[in-house]
Amino acid sequence: MSARLIDGKAIAAQVQARVAAAVAGRLAAGGRAPALATVLVGADPASEIYVRNKRRSCESVGIRSVPLHFDVEISQAELLAAVDRLNGDDAIDGILVQLPLPAHIEAQRVIERIRPDKDVDGFHPYNLGRLAQRLPALRPCTPYGVIELLKSTGENLYGKRALVVGASNHVGRPMGLELLLAGCTTTVAHRFTRELDQEVARAEVLVVAVGKPAFVRGDWVRPGAIVIDIGINRLPDGKLVGDVEFERARERAAWITPVPGGVGPMTVAMLMQNTLEAAAMRQAAGAAGNRQ
Ligand code: GUN
Repeated sequence: MSARLIDGKAIAAQVQARVAAAVAGRLAAGGRAPALATVLVGADPASEIYVRNKRRSCESVGIRSVPLHFDVEISQAELLAAVDRLNGDDAIDGILVQLPLPAHIEAQRVIERIRPDKDVDGFHPYNLGRLAQRLPALRPCTPYGVIELLKSTGENLYGKRALVVGASNHVGRPMGLELLLAGCTTTVAHRFTRELDQEVARAEVLVVAVGKPAFVRGDWVRPGAIVIDIGINRLPDGKLVGDVEFERARERAAWITPVPGGVGPMTVAMLMQNTLEAAAMRQAAGAAGNRQ
């Protein structure tokens, strides 16, 4: 068997087209474009590229992007004050503080300062708590994007055995919550997990987010599994690869995401979706407030 590829680029383009149509609808109804503030601290080249891609994506769907770029020396108090200003600015719907932040700033303090209804990364404990209670509000973009990819296969997820490999706060853990919400019997594996190969062999849905090339061996994969590879690793020869041994896994799986072109494009697409949702929630809350 050779797995069918899950085309993240095409599915991300569909999500972006849906967002663009909804933004156009808001404008046609006399509303304003949703607005996303991107906050970048310092000059980390990878972060600069990520933020530039997010801003380009905003442009392409009609979301107004508002860039803030601070010197690496900015104090934590100054950064928190900037977040406070964005929190209080009625013209801003979403706030994204690009991570990582410099070591002298506590990232968690900054994340928790963002108003939950503007937290388009979905990293605030309020939003993660909502997801844990099956009442999702703004959802972490990468796991949310993986759910879109899984839905695109048309496979029934209810009752499937799912395994997430990697338990980070921003990807692995919320991914486990998303799969639980989707009706899977979900396990999250981490650095202390024993017999990982046997866990992988049981998984009908396998999602890997570790950040190590070929961490999951292709011959561990259960025949007929859906394999989602969140990892993006650059090899010494410049090639980009995921966390799963792709060619061997492809021979066994029913569906698999390529790297690049799988999960990667979905993260930005879901950020656009979240910014639209944040704007819609604010508008609804404003309308309710006006009626009182
Ligand atoms: N750095 C790497 N990925 C992300 C992300 O999804 N959101 C933010 N805010 N920072 C990141």
